[in-house]
Amino acid sequence: MSRVITIDGPASSGKTTLARLLAKALGWSLLESGKFYRFVTYTLLEEKQIEKFLNNELDIKEWLCKVFNNTQVKLNVNETEIFYKNKKLEEELRRKEVEDSVSKVSAVKEVREFLTDYMRELVKGSDVIAEGRDMGSVVFPFAEFKFFLTADPEVRAKRRLRDVKEVLKEDRGEEEVKKNILERDRLDSSRKVAPLKVPEGAIVIDTTNLTPEDVLKEVLSFVKKG
Ligand code: DC
Repeated sequence: MSRVITIDGPASSGKTTLARLLAKALGWSLLESGKFYRFVTYTLLEEKQIEKFLNNELDIKEWLCKVFNNTQVKLNVNETEIFYKNKKLEEELRRKEVEDSVSKVSAVKEVREFLTDYMRELVKGSDVIAEGRDMGSVVFPFAEFKFFLTADPEVRAKRRLRDVKEVLKEDRGEEEVKKNILERDRLDSSRKVAPLKVPEGAIVIDTTNLTPEDVLKEVLSFVKKG
């Protein structure tokens, strides 16, 4: 039997930071579901299939089976590791080209169905903190606890900017980053399949004025009570 705690919310609301801290505090594994959507987008871009895919000319199930036959995934306390053709993917998944197309890829029903089944299989036998957009609403509706984080768009853009600078060593303009975040929010919330929304029974936390440690403390107060 596996236990699952879900954390959902829009881009840069603090999900990943909280998920990491919580996984460490509880000693559970981390499922960063956004990485899988980024990964599928990356393979389509890398292998020049994105146009075909967006024009509905690609057999997406066949494509995903082929890609995942060459993929290994490890869930550990610090991160979800994805190895494609024996190479660990890291900064590749955060590239701007990936971010510009990921919402379109993740709106496709066949992609979501495939990844939902894949992630359910993946967590079997482990205790997992699952972080994403539809973890509590669709993938793990029976999770022990569901959290939903929000934060003002300005604060989220600033966090994303800092992240991009630190991790990718890139200087993207604040306006550009904010535009990308707001556009992804709009697409993620308005898509027909598994839109970003507060799952039933979720505890909502606004992280705008909170430090990561504050958020962890609040979340642990619920988890320890339960
Ligand atoms: O959390 P992230 O920024 O790494 O997610 C990247 C994209 O993947 C996000 O814009 C929407 C999509 N996504 C999704 O549709 N469902 C999830 N459970 C996680 C991410």
